[in-house]
Amino acid sequence: MAPAASVREVFRRFWPDARPFWRWLWLSLVLVVVTPLVDAGAILLFRVLVDRVLAPRDFSAFLPVAAGFVAITLVVGALGFASQYLGTWIGENFLHRMRTRVFAHLHTLSVGFFDRRRLGDVLSRLTGDVAAIESVVLSGVIGILANLMKIVVFTVVLFYLDTRLALAALIAIPVFWIIARSFARRIKIASREVRARVGSITVVAEESLGNATLIQAYGRQNAEVQRFAAQSLGSVRAELAATRIGAMFTPLVDLIQVLGVLTILGVGIWELTAGHITLGGLLAFLVFLAQLYQPVQGLGSLATSLFGAAAAAERIIELLDECPTVPTPVHPTALPSPPCGRLTLEHVTFTYPHSSTPALTDVTFTVPSGHTTAIVGASGAGKTTLLKLLLRFYDPTHGTITLDGIDLRALDPHALRSHIAVVLQETLLLDGTIAENIMAGRPGATHDELLAAAHAADAHDFITAFPEGYHTRVGQRGRLLSGGQRQRIAIARALIRDAPLLLLDEPTTSLDADTTRRILTPLRRLMTGRTTIIISHNLLTVAEADHIIYLHNGRITETGTHTQLLANNHHYAHLYHLHHPSTLASTTVPSVRNGAAT
Ligand SMILES: Nc1ncnc2c1ncn2[C@@H]1O[C@H](COP(=O)(O)OP(=O)(O)OP(=O)(O)O)[C@@H](O)[C@H]1O
Ligand SMILES: [Mg+2]
Repeated sequence: MAPAASVREVFRRFWPDARPFWRWLWLSLVLVVVTPLVDAGAILLFRVLVDRVLAPRDFSAFLPVAAGFVAITLVVGALGFASQYLGTWIGENFLHRMRTRVFAHLHTLSVGFFDRRRLGDVLSRLTGDVAAIESVVLSGVIGILANLMKIVVFTVVLFYLDTRLALAALIAIPVFWIIARSFARRIKIASREVRARVGSITVVAEESLGNATLIQAYGRQNAEVQRFAAQSLGSVRAELAATRIGAMFTPLVDLIQVLGVLTILGVGIWELTAGHITLGGLLAFLVFLAQLYQPVQGLGSLATSLFGAAAAAERIIELLDECPTVPTPVHPTALPSPPCGRLTLEHVTFTYPHSSTPALTDVTFTVPSGHTTAIVGASGAGKTTLLKLLLRFYDPTHGTITLDGIDLRALDPHALRSHIAVVLQETLLLDGTIAENIMAGRPGATHDELLAAAHAADAHDFITAFPEGYHTRVGQRGRLLSGGQRQRIAIARALIRDAPLLLLDEPTTSLDADTTRRILTPLRRLMTGRTTIIISHNLLTVAEADHIIYLHNGRITETGTHTQLLANNHHYAHLYHLHHPSTLASTTVPSVRNGAAT
């Protein structure tokens, strides 16, 4: 994409976001027009000073001129304050809106996005690159207009002072532009590289520090430091290259400026001796000219920084163009509230994006309302994947999943999830207090309900043992708690949600045998009357289920009740006997070798 085209694209995309600020932008435009006029007045006053005071050596004319200078200085100061503050106010508020919008957009994306993307990269876009949009859409526009306005006003005054001299002066400007343009492209490429490099430093640091436990346990600190240093060095090189290009630009521009001024000075002295211009006029002309180069140079560097910013804005556009892979239908079907909770899967096949083999193949089963179905199978069989489809984190590649006869694709995912309580395999907690984490299940819950849920999940005792009780902070991702404590909080969170559908992914993995036994009663209480899908290696919970499904490599190989499956004497029976060796005596040893669970 050509740089100009990408700046245009950035505008097309983000100009509407500046709409709330248009009123204030008009005000800053007024300042943009008035400021150069006042500046011009100051310089013209300088001509009066030379021609009326200095040349005739007339002190009496000095006082009004001096008063004029003071007045103009005051006005310039007030205007400067107003335009700076207004500019920052508009910019910061715009930035705040953009940041929040991008963040909100990220939360609309399907979980598949976060599985694929590196978090650090997304973060650096959210914090760094968003600012670039502001610098294109607002600061950029105001800067360009302010500089253009100065150029117009000063050029008009130049022609007013001496036409021939003005024509000579304007020959130097195109030369300047040709140089500026040749540099613009290279600076864009260099600054894109710098941004990418800084982004990857954050990525490496985030991945590395986020996995501190793993890295220390395996003694990989040195390797990690080297990996980080390599990225950091890359950033140094990119920054140096960008600075080299940028720094070469400035002295070249200065040289052109000096040559231009010397040429014009020559012509000016000739005009002065011919009597076409006064000394004050010539001096004022030179001051205007010097003033003119600054906005021209400003335009040049604005153009280059615009291209740099456009590169950063492209990274934001790329994020904003990510669509949720599970779209919300335009007219979602309404679920009865509460839904009965009859779940049906028909010939569901699912392949993860960017994966070649299906994680689930032709899965068909029904969970009648209020019944419990257990899913059993080896690690990697597709059990968690099945839950992800039920939560509509992904849509099936083929086949349909229905709730109360309604295709999940016809439902608003938020509405669907509001009827589901879930305990995920990887226990996730937010940084906050224990109470906040449990209440996340149902933000409107009362304190009594909170206590009841914690009691039922067998969490109340360990919570109150903390000095700060329910107000204990759990740390980032709950790191300050043990695995079993986290899991019980997750169960309390599911309990308090009180939803008709319950999805449990290994709810007892991190618990010791004793705690597991204690938690079974509340879990059973949680499951009664709710449509439940439970994934478990703990066959105690599984045996009680109304229906058991055995998954093998993404396919259902056995279904039935516990007794039926034991009688089948296949995978499930094998698994059961592994867990309960004492039962072996009464049954024959199954002849199955492959597919047995972990
Ligand atoms: N986000 C993902 N992208 C691509 N493939 C995935 C993703 N998540 C899981 N898989 C693959 O899908 C298959 C099923 O994974 P799943 O997590 O459903 O297994 P599981 O039965 O829950 O195993 P476990 O008992 O170990 O939790 C695995 O082969 C896994 O590699
Ligand atoms: Mg799993």
